[in-house]
Amino acid sequence: MEETIMNVYPMEAYEASAEYIKNRVSENRQWQAPFACIILGSGLGRMADMIENKTVIPYKDIPNFPQSTAAGHKGNLIFGEIGGKNVVAMQGRFHYYEGYGMKQVTFPVRVMKMLGAGYLFVSNAAGGINYDYKVGDLMIIRDHINLMPNPLVGRNDERFGPRFPDMTRPYDLSLIRLAEEAAASLGHKVWKGVYIAGTGPSYETPSEYEFFRRAGADAVGMSTVPEVIVARHSGIPVFGMSVITNQAHHFAEDFVNDGDDVVRAADEAAGKMTSIFVEMLKRL
Ligand code: HPA
Repeated sequence: MEETIMNVYPMEAYEASAEYIKNRVSENRQWQAPFACIILGSGLGRMADMIENKTVIPYKDIPNFPQSTAAGHKGNLIFGEIGGKNVVAMQGRFHYYEGYGMKQVTFPVRVMKMLGAGYLFVSNAAGGINYDYKVGDLMIIRDHINLMPNPLVGRNDERFGPRFPDMTRPYDLSLIRLAEEAAASLGHKVWKGVYIAGTGPSYETPSEYEFFRRAGADAVGMSTVPEVIVARHSGIPVFGMSVITNQAHHFAEDFVNDGDDVVRAADEAAGKMTSIFVEMLKRL
């Protein structure tokens, strides 16, 4: 029965958002598809300062766009240039834990597809499960484990991609290599590991962190994977990076996980991550 199928946005909803965005950018300069879309995670919004010749579009102006409520997240699309490349940054993303459905969480990615985005760069703040990881470290995401609902559940629109999309290489191997080269040339150490995504909003118990470590995860967070799945569904190559904002193992007796500390640690490491992204964009 039709009514039992989970709600999906009609194609026109994505089109209306894309049209509005194109028109707003065209008020400032000739429209050109973004070479890359960059999603800025918790505390990482400052990367937007690197963008030149900006057109800033608040989410609240865009038809059908959800609004951003999470700590450390603004709600703007910022078009402009980084390293001579045409980019759009999402300053603030939507999380499942805020109460959005997965179709809302991933809505912007499909709008980016309609706008012709060539690459998706995703960033996030994450807990460091791997014993070697320290607060402020960076991790290239080489794979993920999804413990959230899958955003593709519901009727499939073949115009975006297939019913059963491949996930053998969710993170583009040549972008990973490029990131390693860029980081080395800048003298920044980067780890390469597996990101595990839960719904949040509660942080994990010590036993959950240990469970994730034994499952093969290096870092844990509450975002990113939905956007990556939807981007890969429609064929957009993805690069992902986590900033390690808190230890997720071997807790001291007086240690507590705190959202403000997470945003602060991300903010402090944002510069390093930004310089790697900029270097990658220059080289691409
Ligand atoms: N767990 C889940 N999400 C997070 C964490 C964590 O420890 N740190 C930053 N985001």
